[in-house]
Amino acid sequence: MRERLQKVLAKAGIASRRRAEELIRQGKVRVDGLVVTEMGTRVDPETQKIECNGIPVTSEEKKVYILLHKPVGYLSTVDDPQGRPIVTDLLVGIKERIYPVGRLDLDTEGALLLTNDGELAQKILHPSHEVNKTYEAEVKGRPGKKKLAALSKGIMLDGNKTWPADTEIIKTVSRSTTVRITIHEGRKRQVRKMFDAIGHPVLKLKRIAYGQLELGSLEPGKYRFLSLDDLKSIFNK
Ligand code: URA
Repeated sequence: MRERLQKVLAKAGIASRRRAEELIRQGKVRVDGLVVTEMGTRVDPETQKIECNGIPVTSEEKKVYILLHKPVGYLSTVDDPQGRPIVTDLLVGIKERIYPVGRLDLDTEGALLLTNDGELAQKILHPSHEVNKTYEAEVKGRPGKKKLAALSKGIMLDGNKTWPADTEIIKTVSRSTTVRITIHEGRKRQVRKMFDAIGHPVLKLKRIAYGQLELGSLEPGKYRFLSLDDLKSIFNK
């Protein structure tokens, strides 16, 4: 059934009708890959692909929430035209159209949430909700206190200052140091760029938690379904 685009967005829980109109006006909404800014455009959510801020909008499907331990070498996407391994290759028997909430680089492993709940995905991704993401970064050499303090204060990256990060040294071996770092932004290759900026490039990177939702002992390539309490813990500091 065809309905007005703003109504479809509102029904899917993406935003209020008024906010949905703003998103459309700002060019944040695509239908079948094309930006639609014309208010009142009629669409069929059953057959057309609707995206808001790059995230698919789903309406009536049962909501599914998964925590996957993404292994290195898998792309955080649901489709790769070049046929490389993608994270959804690791999931078995899931019919809902789930997609990753944010990305981990090809060479990063660790906690990756997948869902078809657009509202939750927007909430997690929007910096205003300040969802903490914690990483273990093995970095080259031994970053001293001053350098880590610079990350804690915030440093300039691509012309913008990063929000303060929490850092803690976990382990030092002869040529590298493992640092636990918590940030709540999600800029591209942010953790790698932050350590590059202080002269200690990342050798290995693993996301270990979203808020208080921890990866725990989940092995690479394995996943689990999340409970309501798990979802709540994402927003706990
Ligand atoms: N920061 C990075 O540099 N890479 C990731 O995959 C995630 C955060």
